[in-house]
Amino acid sequence: MPKITPPAIMARKHKGPKITVVTAYDYPTARLVDKAGIDVILVGDSLGMVCLGYPDTVSVTMEEMLHHTAAAARGTENALIVGDMPFLSYQVSPEQAVSNAGRFLKVGRADCVKLEGGVNQADKVRAIVNAGIPVMGHIGLTPQTAGQLGGFKVQGRDASAQVKLLEDAKALEAAGAFAIVLECIPAPLAAKITSSINIPTIGIGAGPQCDGQVLVFHDIVGLFDRFTPKFVKRYHEVSAGIIEGLEKFKEEVEEGSFPGEEHQF
Ligand code: KIV
Repeated sequence: MPKITPPAIMARKHKGPKITVVTAYDYPTARLVDKAGIDVILVGDSLGMVCLGYPDTVSVTMEEMLHHTAAAARGTENALIVGDMPFLSYQVSPEQAVSNAGRFLKVGRADCVKLEGGVNQADKVRAIVNAGIPVMGHIGLTPQTAGQLGGFKVQGRDASAQVKLLEDAKALEAAGAFAIVLECIPAPLAAKITSSINIPTIGIGAGPQCDGQVLVFHDIVGLFDRFTPKFVKRYHEVSAGIIEGLEKFKEEVEEGSFPGEEHQF
């Protein structure tokens, strides 16, 4: 299978099939996601919550993102790698945005970057794209600014918020973004945005009409149990199997049945 590129993702808007995006933050997970044939690996700043134990994504640093992006990239052959720009790594100025986006490619070996915001960050998206780095946008519930949005809740419920989100999507398209994540917005609004722009929308809690869907790896396989948003579908519950294996190891070491003859030199 050939390496997936931003133009290949853009082409899927019109010819399908729907685009699949899953997060991965390290080498073994990226290998699993890549082997499953998922199109895009997002090294999301959700890293902070599901891997590093932070209460939110605001604490995540550039250094942490680069360290994990490089590990995920080493485990990936085909999927497009998107490095998620952490809080305050792009908001300050277009220069800061280009410089940090460049580090995702040079140090993290990502193929492109994602950042949160619409009209208010369009100048950063344009600057990064002009520097030759593809950008994925992210609007709706934007976790880095959840405080300003009144918490982790569905966005775009009233008419003025819906107009604003459509303007955000159009601003990102005009600035050169190749795709946009729509997080936690009503399904009819996501459908309207999807049919109003020429770049793919990737939904998370945004209904079935988006051009693709994204979920966090740890939510899909049942490795994150602090909370489960309504939009998550758990396809597996691997935690129980992992704990069972570890308990068996402990039991066999304690009773002396491991290592057996076949494990000895
Ligand atoms: O950080 C992340 O995992 C994300 C997705 C939920 C879209 O931004």
